[in-house]
Amino acid sequence: MATGRPSTVYLWELAWILPSIALPVGMLAALAVTAFGAGINVAGDRGRVEPTKVAEHPLFKDPGVSEIAPGQYEVRMTGQIWSFAPAEIRVPAGSTVHFWATSKDLVHGLFVPRHNVNVMLLPGQIAHAQARFDTPGEYPIICHEYCGIAHHTMAGKIIVEARR
Ligand code: CUA
Repeated sequence: MATGRPSTVYLWELAWILPSIALPVGMLAALAVTAFGAGINVAGDRGRVEPTKVAEHPLFKDPGVSEIAPGQYEVRMTGQIWSFAPAEIRVPAGSTVHFWATSKDLVHGLFVPRHNVNVMLLPGQIAHAQARFDTPGEYPIICHEYCGIAHHTMAGKIIVEARR
């Protein structure tokens, strides 16, 4: 009879069980921190437009930027081969920008590096993202879903102007 064996087995089991509990608990904590602390969320359903009628929809018939409240800007944007409308967005530093976007033709992407804007633009599916721009400068808007021969040229920019 090996009396030392059960406790060795027990320790080995514990060595596997504890990380297998710690991993999901750690991931859950990371999820909570990013969702509630960093404000990073998955894109939800914000409605649909018939893809062929995007240009008639109130949000997209006149793509552009408007100030909706002090320091709050709304961008109504469409993606189409191979451009964004508007291609250039100007806001003062410290602004929160609310992006409403969709695609008029095929799948595009809307990505602003180092900001909370990273969504797919599906034809007729309304996407929403919002980000704050505190530091003056130029920020690229990039299509990061392959959309054909000139995909790599599909880009725009956000110009964040210093407050006077
Ligand atoms: Cu549009 Cu890639």
